[in-house]
Amino acid sequence: MSKQRTYNRIARLYDLLDLPFEHLRYKPVRKIIFSGLSGQVLDAGVGTGRNMPHYPPEATMTGVDLSPGMLARADQRQRRLQVPVTLHQADIMATDFDDHSFDCVVATFLFCVLDAEHQTPALVELNRICRPGGEIRIIEYAISEHPVRRAIMRLWAPWVRWAYGAAFDRNTEQYLDAAGLELVEQRFIHRDIIKLLVVRRKA
Ligand SMILES: C[S@@+](CC[C@H](N)C(=O)[O-])C[C@H]1O[C@@H](n2cnc3c(N)ncnc32)[C@H](O)[C@@H]1O
Repeated sequence: MSKQRTYNRIARLYDLLDLPFEHLRYKPVRKIIFSGLSGQVLDAGVGTGRNMPHYPPEATMTGVDLSPGMLARADQRQRRLQVPVTLHQADIMATDFDDHSFDCVVATFLFCVLDAEHQTPALVELNRICRPGGEIRIIEYAISEHPVRRAIMRLWAPWVRWAYGAAFDRNTEQYLDAAGLELVEQRFIHRDIIKLLVVRRKA
């Protein structure tokens, strides 16, 4: 099933299904990823707009997503929270944005959704639309080294694949070089299962 159909299917339930994770795990992570940002900032794979409460007032925000269903929820959240953000429907592998449109790009839990063959094209596009020297900040999952957490993730993986088209082990860092990007920072921000990658265009 295409990712667009997967997310159109789950859009109405997405926030409800994610609620426990949102409160226990994602909220602090979202705060970290937007800290210190200003200028033109893209929220790539904006989803239902879960990042909106954390958008810095200094930033001019744009959000894109492949799924009209998810964008409709994001639009509702934007109105409810009165968050200034321009929303577009676009495939992150081929957007209409001009070169260097953004000072920074943020992608939360987008790259764990993109299949292996789509990782490099998506990174190439982010490299094109982010200004040289601008940061691309990515949050994604990793499979824990802790035996119990690892076992739980292995059990959970088939549901995550079916419901979200996602995987815990995309290892996006392996595609950076081919996309002309380099790693500036990599660290775990929730146990050893959610990691932050900060990348930039290669010098
Ligand atoms: C797991 S959700 C994460 C949503 C949001 N960033 C968050 O943190 O809650 C992944 C989102 O990426 C979107 N997506 C998947 N493939 C995409 C693509 N090729 N281009 C743009 N968005 C895409 C999905 O529609 C979905 O809204």
